[in-house]
Amino acid sequence: MTETTSKAGRVRPLVAGNWKMNGLKASLSEALSVDEALAGDAKELSAQVDVMICPPATLVMVLAELAGKGGLKVGGQDCHWSEAGANTGDVSAEMLADAGASAVIVGHSERRCDHGETDRVVRDKASAAHRAGLTAIVCVGETLGQRQAQLTLDVVARQIRGSLPETATAANTVIAYEPVWAIGTGLVPEVGDVAEVHRMIRGELTNRLGEDGGMVRILYGGSVKPSNAAALMSVDNVNGALVGGASLLAEDFLGILGAYSEVGPG
Ligand code: PGA
Repeated sequence: MTETTSKAGRVRPLVAGNWKMNGLKASLSEALSVDEALAGDAKELSAQVDVMICPPATLVMVLAELAGKGGLKVGGQDCHWSEAGANTGDVSAEMLADAGASAVIVGHSERRCDHGETDRVVRDKASAAHRAGLTAIVCVGETLGQRQAQLTLDVVARQIRGSLPETATAANTVIAYEPVWAIGTGLVPEVGDVAEVHRMIRGELTNRLGEDGGMVRILYGGSVKPSNAAALMSVDNVNGALVGGASLLAEDFLGILGAYSEVGPG
């Protein structure tokens, strides 16, 4: 995934599905239906938007081998910072690349909260992703308490500064802004609040990366559904979505992708 500009020269959106700890071999049919749709009925979408599924590690290799007809990309959900070693239960970025992944999610709030991952750990994982030639999808986002205390911008800015490695560029890094309170709850922020956070993230990225920071894709994630996708995807500096629950069924995921028929890349 090195091309980040659409034909119009704007940032090319990415819609990535995060299956989390869901999905057996049988579930691959949903991902393959998406791939087939991108090769057929939804062909015009694959010309406008990058589409990815991040299944559990057990399915990365088989999905990468079976998909691709419609350009569907495959990503991992997490990686270790080391290339190899005595790390029982972990998967390295190199292993994901070897299995056919082109990206890996790092710093998802379920990793930050449930596994105590700090910005430092997330940065090391993003750096490992780059070392392995993968795009790092770096997640950031505030908790409900932080939002209520009006700390959202401070918290997210600190996560961006702490979680991006020196190696970050627009070609190898994607940011996913996911308010923790919006994940899996059906709650979504007001579009004005999404715009405010994405604008701040864009500012952080351009401060740090100059012009290249303007090309980094900033995804919104948290209860994205077919019914709210067009409104969310049309917000300035929202360059796609990270989709959890609604990525498990091809129909819902394609419904979200359909938002791009309405709003186009931006
Ligand atoms: P959700 O999850 O779409 O189910 O809210 C998003 C995510 O955690 O990436």
